[in-house]
Parts: sequence; structure tokens; C-alpha cells
Amino acid sequence: MRLWPYVRPVRGRLFLAVLLAVVASCLALVMPLVLKWMVDGPVSDGDVAGVWLGGGVLLLLGVVEAGVFGVRRWLAARPLAAVEASMRERLHHHLLRLPVAFHDRWSSGQLVSRGTADLGSLHGFLAVALPFLVVNGVTLLVGCVLLMAQRWVLGLVLLAPVVPLLALSSFLEARFALAARQARERAGDLATLAEESVLGVRVVKSFGHDQRLTRAFRQLAVRMRGAELAKARLLAALTALLAVLPDASLGAVLVLGAVEVAEGDLSAGTLLAFLAMAMELRPAVASTGSLLAMSVDAATAADRYVEVMDEPAPADDARARPLAGPAGAGTKAGSEATAAELVFEGVEFRYPDAPPGEPAMLRGVSLRIAPGETVALVGATGSGKSTLVALVPRLHEPTGGRILLDGVDVTALTRAESRRQVSVAFEEPTLFSTTVAENVLLGADHADEADLARALGIARADGFVQALPDGALTHVGEQGMSLSGGQRQRLALARAIVGRPRLLVLDDPLSALDIHTEALVEAALRRVLATTTALVVAHRPSTVLLADRVALLSGGRIAAVGTHDHLLRTCAEYTSLMSAFAAGGDGAR
Ligand SMILES: Nc1ncnc2c1ncn2[C@@H]1O[C@H](COP(=O)(O)OP(=O)(O)OP(=O)(O)O)[C@@H](O)[C@H]1O
Ligand SMILES: [Mg+2]
Repeated sequence: MRLWPYVRPVRGRLFLAVLLAVVASCLALVMPLVLKWMVDGPVSDGDVAGVWLGGGVLLLLGVVEAGVFGVRRWLAARPLAAVEASMRERLHHHLLRLPVAFHDRWSSGQLVSRGTADLGSLHGFLAVALPFLVVNGVTLLVGCVLLMAQRWVLGLVLLAPVVPLLALSSFLEARFALAARQARERAGDLATLAEESVLGVRVVKSFGHDQRLTRAFRQLAVRMRGAELAKARLLAALTALLAVLPDASLGAVLVLGAVEVAEGDLSAGTLLAFLAMAMELRPAVASTGSLLAMSVDAATAADRYVEVMDEPAPADDARARPLAGPAGAGTKAGSEATAAELVFEGVEFRYPDAPPGEPAMLRGVSLRIAPGETVALVGATGSGKSTLVALVPRLHEPTGGRILLDGVDVTALTRAESRRQVSVAFEEPTLFSTTVAENVLLGADHADEADLARALGIARADGFVQALPDGALTHVGEQGMSLSGGQRQRLALARAIVGRPRLLVLDDPLSALDIHTEALVEAALRRVLATTTALVVAHRPSTVLLADRVALLSGGRIAAVGTHDHLLRTCAEYTSLMSAFAAGGDGAR
């Protein structure tokens, strides 16, 4: 039922395809009746022309059956591919809408396997298992009626195994469902491990972690093989049952029927037709085992799919669909707009997976950043700076208090609106496997060549970008791994400023630069910061000096606010944080 919304758009074609398969299958059931007519009529009368006629009819029936089956395939293929593609697309879209907290909780391999292998198995179910279960059901029903009409006693003997078969197969099916779920979960774990090993290949190699990973991978693979073998065993038992019991009853019918023919109670043609029809039904019974197994497997896959789709995504995104184009198109990314005012009002935040007894990560953060002002956020490592900063672009929602952008609660903004006004450079500069230009222009919907050049210039990225083989059109490898850490960081900074945001949030944006480059970037950044509001997480005194004021985050609160010099004089914690850096050599200049 949960698949119906996805299948609905193509229901007409699918229904027609199933109908055609039923027709083809029932055509095959007519063949034994023609055979009966041939044996009891032309064959026993020695009428050669009649035999040829019967043979011709059989041939025609066979050709039509094959043709109808072919048309069915052709009819179903395109709509089913469309169903799979649309389910995959919706999953991907939904994953991008889901909050960061969801992605913190779920491993990527589980999500990837749901979007690939699981959907493949659903496709298999819709293409093969579902139609053929219907076809087999109808065929068996029609076949049974025809059999009973031929000779009801023999029909009853043939049908005798149905009841034990149903009981046994439902028992095996329940166990199969369990094994199928296990196998899929393990496939997801395996995908996670594989992905981590590949992405972390540098660490893996340099720490000789490969042997341990190989062992872990083998263990997971063995466990997955175990689940798959359990599935195979159950399927083998089911298939054997579905082959042996009907064959045994068919044997009994053959003996009983032969006796009846010998005694003259039954015509040879009827017995032949009866047996031929039973043989026609045989594949329908035998294939039901694997079709049921496919269905159970697909039900597991569907469960896993809807499990993700049922995760609630923030509501406002319905208005901010990425496919519909950015909202407010036309305003050039706030280039003429004034700087914004940012206010934290008693902001409280607790990570969803934090232990219940623990105090909240942020406990009442209050801070006002005036339009055009630059505030540096300073605090010990792990004090929650990145967490606080991530609340502004709404990567997490505060669990208490409010964040106001020009007096408007950020939770009231659509993501598109918030994206247009707020720009962020994260601690970890994330790049995508595309060109340098596209990576930077992600930051603004309507930025052009000139904006790109300006942003690269401010971030001091223009030099190394020009030296790349194709300049800004050079593809950076997966996650930008073909660039140095400082180069990646400068591109992330360029991305943050390219759209001239009204509020700029920088999480330790210069940490990977040498002192010389840092000074150059800072000099250029100063001009940007003069025209925009900015919140800059800073570790080093050199970065702090970019700011008008400094806010010290400590114990989940803003413990002190003031100019750098003021805090150095009045706040012992601030002095010790800064002098630690000075002692490290970096703040000494
Ligand atoms: N996704 C998460 N789920 C649960 N806890 C988290 C998560 N991310 C961070 N934390 C916890 O929140 C605390 C603050 O982390 P945060 O990244 O905000 O620190 P920070 O001040 O930015 O540190 P640094 O200066 O090292 O960057 C850490 O103790 C960390 O364990
Ligand atoms: Mg941080």
C-alpha cells in the first residue's frame, strides 16, 4: 500500500500488462482442451486432416501466447523504470531536506544502500513478482475449475496438498522475512565501511589501518553471507516443498487415472487433457516459492525505504523546493542590501543524542551584533563555538531561546530566504567533485564571472586557481582532495563571500593558512567585513584583530564581551586563551 502513491501514475499501463499476462497464461490452459479433442476425435478416428488442424490450432495458440507475453514486457518496462527513478529521486530530495541531526544519526552506507540495492529489489517485485503472483493466482484458479470440470475426483486428489503447502510456506515466509531484513541491514553496514575506507584512504594507509579494516570488512561480509545463506536455505526448503508435494499428487492422479481408463470409466483424451493441464499449472505452483521470496524481500526493502521517507523534514522547504528555482530570483544576492542585525536571545541548545542528565551544550547565549559589526567568537576547543554558529543557517534548531535576523526569528525564514542573507564558511571546507568555479558559485545564485574573480581575489585564491591546468574550470577531485588544505579553505571562504551576504559567518576560516597568506587574506577580508555583519570564530589573536568586538563563549554562555584589549585586561580566561596562542608562536607577530 505504501508503494501505491509511486505506482499510481503508471497504474493504467501496469494493469494492462498484468491483464495481458493473465490472458496469455489462460490461453496456455486452452491447449490441453485442444489436445483432448485431438486424441478423442481425429486421432482415434484416424482422421489425418483433423490432426493437422489440431496441430495448427496449437501452434497458433502458442504463437499468440508468446506474442502477448512479449507485449506485456514491453508495456511494463518503461513505466517501471520511471517508478524506480522517481522513487530514487524523491529519496535523494528528501535526504537533502532532512535536518543535519538526522544525518548525524544515520550512517551514509545505510542510506546509499536504500537508494540503490533496495530500490532495485522493489523494481524486481513490481516487474516480476507482483504480476506473476496475480497471473499464477488467476491461472491456478481457472486451471482448478477446468480440472474439476474434467473429473472432480482426480481434481480433489491433485488439490489435496494445497492446505499443508499454505501452512508450511507461511511459516517459512515469516522466517525468510527476518533473514531478508538482516541481510539488507548488513549490506548497509558493509556499504558504510566500504565508503569510510575509501574516503579515509590516506589515514588508512599511513596508520597501517588496512589490515584491521580488511578484517572488519571480512567479518561483516561473512555475516552478510550468513544471512544470505539463511535466505537460500529457506528458499530451498520452500521450493522443494512446492515441487515435491504437487508432483506426488500428480503421480497419484496418473495411477488413479490410468486405472480408470483401463476400466473404461474415463476416456484416454480426458486423462491426457487432465495431465497436460496439471503440467501447465506446475510451473505456476513451482515458481510461487521464489515469487513469494522476492515479495518478502521487496517488502523489507519497502520498509527500509519508507522508514527514511517517514522522517519528518522541516515544513517550510515545501515552499523552498530546490527544483523550483531560488526564491526571490532577480535581486542580485543582496549586493545592494545593507548589513543585517543578528541577535541571540537566551539561545539554548542540546544535541538530540546527548545523555539526558547532561546540561545543555549552550545554556542561554545572549549576544547582539549590530549591522555592519564584526564580532569574533572565542572559546576553548569543544566549548560549542561551531555548534552556536551552525544555529544561524539553521543546520540545527535551538532547543530554547531565539535567533533574530533583523528582528525576524530565523526559524520563520524559509531556507531560501535564509540562504540569500546568510553565508557560511565551515571549519571543514567541503568541496564537491566539480569545477573550482562551480564550487565557489554555489554561494550565490546570480553571481557572474566578475563576482567570481572578486571573491577569489579576496580569498587570495586567484593565484593558485590561475595556475591550475584549466584555471577556474579545472575539476577538483572528489571532495577537492587534489587541492591542499589551505587552498580548499580559501575556496570555501571565496564561496562564502561571493554572494555579498548581509551576514557572514566564518568558522575559523584561516586556520590552515601560513602566516604570510593569512595576513594577505585578512587585509582583503577587512574590506568585505566593513560592508557586512560578521560572526567569526577565531582561535588566533591575528584573526581576532579583524573584529570590532570579541565574545567569549564559556560554560555554554557568553561569559564576556568587549574589545580585544579590554578583554585582555579584564578577563583572565580570555588572556590565558590568547597567551597560549602567543606562546605557540603564532600570535607573536
Ligand atoms: N553532532 C553532534 N552530536 C553530538 N554532540 C556533538 C555533535 N557535534 C559536536 N558535539 C559536541 O559538542 C561539543 C562542542 O562542539 P563544537 O564543535 O561546537 O566545539 P567548538 O567550540 O567548535 O570546538 P573547536 O574549537 O575545537 O572547533 C563537543 O563537546 C562535541 O562533543
Ligand atoms: Mg569548531
